[in-house]
This record gives sequence, C-alpha cells and structure tokens, in this order.
Amino acid sequence: MSDAPARLQEIRVEAEAAIAAAGSAADLEQLRIAYLGRKAELTTMLRGIKDLPAEQRGPVGKGGNEVKRALEAQLAERVGALEAAELDERLRSDAVDVTLPGDPPQRPGHLHLITETRREIEDVFLGLGFAVAEGTEVEYDYYNFTALNHPPDHPARMLQDTFYLADEVLLRTHTSPMQIRAMELQEPPIYVIVPGKVYRRDHDATHTPMFHQIEGLAIDADITLADLQGVLLEFVRAIFGAEREIRLRPHYFPFTEPSVEVDVSCFKCGGNGYVADGSHCNLCKGSGWIEILGSGMVDPNVLGFVAGNGYDPAKVQGFAFGMGIERIAMLRHGVPDLRLFFDNDVRFLEQFGS
Ligand code: DAH
Repeated sequence: MSDAPARLQEIRVEAEAAIAAAGSAADLEQLRIAYLGRKAELTTMLRGIKDLPAEQRGPVGKGGNEVKRALEAQLAERVGALEAAELDERLRSDAVDVTLPGDPPQRPGHLHLITETRREIEDVFLGLGFAVAEGTEVEYDYYNFTALNHPPDHPARMLQDTFYLADEVLLRTHTSPMQIRAMELQEPPIYVIVPGKVYRRDHDATHTPMFHQIEGLAIDADITLADLQGVLLEFVRAIFGAEREIRLRPHYFPFTEPSVEVDVSCFKCGGNGYVADGSHCNLCKGSGWIEILGSGMVDPNVLGFVAGNGYDPAKVQGFAFGMGIERIAMLRHGVPDLRLFFDNDVRFLEQFGS
C-alpha cells in the first residue's frame, strides 16, 4: 500500500478520461457506480485508511476525498451538459418552422346551384305576394292527373313517362298536383308557388329521372291573362335582366285553357337573333326567343274539383304556371348538360355559389 497516493492519481486520470468520453446519462451512471460506488476501489481505499501506516493516513485520506469530490463535481457537470444537449436537440427537432405555409384552409361549402336558383325564384314571387308551399313527392293519380283534367285513359297521361309505385300511386311527374291540394287547404283568394322535386322516366343530356320545378297558382275574383303576363314579365326581368321581354305562344296543357308557352327575349343576343360578328345566336338558335315555362288560365274543369271549397268557376278564376329550375339555371349559367347538377363533381359545383 506504499503507492496508495500514486494509485489515487491513476484512478483520477482514468475516471476523468472516462467521464469526459461518456456519451449519455446512462454511461455516466455506470461510471459513478464504478468509481464512486460502494464497491469502487476509491471507496475501499477510503474505508481502509485506518489500516494504513500512520504516515500515509493523512495524504490518502485528504487525497482520496479530493479525488472523490473532483469526480463527483465532474459527473454532475457532465450530466448537466448532456441534459442541456438533449434539450437542445429536442428543441431543434420539435421546432415549428413558422415560415412554412399553413395547412390548406378548409374550403367553406356553399349552396348547390339548384338550391340557390330556387331561392332566388322564390324571393321574386314572395315579393309579389305569393306564399311558398311544398307538397308530397309520392302522389295519388287523382292529384297528379285526374283532378288536373286528365280523364281516365286520356292520351295526355302519356305525355309524361310516369313512375308508378302501385295502382293509383306514383311519383309526381310535376308540381301541378299541389294546385289541387293548395286549393283544398285554402279558400280563395290564393297566391302560391310550389317548389319541389318531380320524377319522370327519362335520362339524357336534357332529362334526369328527378328534377325540380316551381309551380305557380293565383286564383281570385278578377284575374285575367294580363295579370299572368304582368307577373311573368316581372319574374323574367328579375331573373334574366331588366331589359327582357316575354312572348306568349298558344299551346296545350290539360289543366289550363287557354294554355300558353312563355318565351323570354334572348339575353345573349338581346333578342336580335344574331351576335356581333353577324352569325346566328347559338343560345336562341337565331330566333331571339327562349322558351322558359308553361302556363295558362286555370281550366274551369280543374276548379270544379275544388268548387266545394269556394272555387266556383263562375265566381273565381286565375292563372297557373310551371317551370323547371334546372332549365332556368342552365340558361343563366350556360350549363350544357343537365346531368352535371347531380354528378356531385366539386369541380363543377364549386364554380357556382357565393
Ligand atoms: N306541369 C307542366 C309540366 O310539367 C308545366 C305547367 C304548364 C304547369 C302549364 C302549369 C301550367 O301550372 O299552367 O310540363
């Protein structure tokens, strides 16, 4: 044991080198156990001082405690340094780069073009004093046909390709049955429009099995065809522009007499039929007019079905009209194919709506 002080210095050099080289907190803990633990050489030496020759007790006790404190201090420093480095690294790797662009913003949705168009049309008629009513999509033959003056086996029933659900029960082919239901529910006078889904067995670029219509009905004491004309002119100007004119052409519908088809003056060529370079307008096909709805004076036979509720054809009369919402939207926005409305392709849908 004569070289104990020298051994102390060897332990110190070896331990200090090991501590300096340690790469992790776990390594440092191993070194603490190895050099300062209960079974460590240094600990054993300090414990054995009392057995040393008297002249060595002082130097070994003092030197040993010095080495012990020095190693403890170094360990503490290295643990601190490693923790700081780990924190640094965590901060670096978890850092948020505030200069990166953010997540793409959620695109807000908007109303479907059909809904938007329906609401615009409703607004026009609400402004003219009409109420809005909705009917059932599953309808009786009676309301869809019979009470609208289609006698049984009348060929007019063939004008519309009907989905039958059961004998006498069908998917309504138009919103016109609500004329009868509305008059059953309310005595005259009545001013009502009826938006809703209708169904027909048809499928091509201009027909889908389901589409939307808006029906109009006005019954009062002194209504004439001039009232119909005034109301529809107002509607057409609100939807297609203040300069528009309308034209009434004779037509046939079972539930109106007389019946007319209503055209709006072309809003692409201004009604001229030709465009700036002298070529025919492709929207109105050179005619200057575009068909937009069917209409007429309500047939007295129709009023006869609700005469019990005050609709005596001798006392009241009125007009009715019906239009396709898709058709109005297609014309206004230049949509070439009706089926686009129902494909749910956002590339189409997102072009519209506010
Ligand atoms: N219901 C007709 C159709 O779907 C449209 C129509 C024409 C409605 C004349 C009317 C009207 O109210 O008077 O083709």
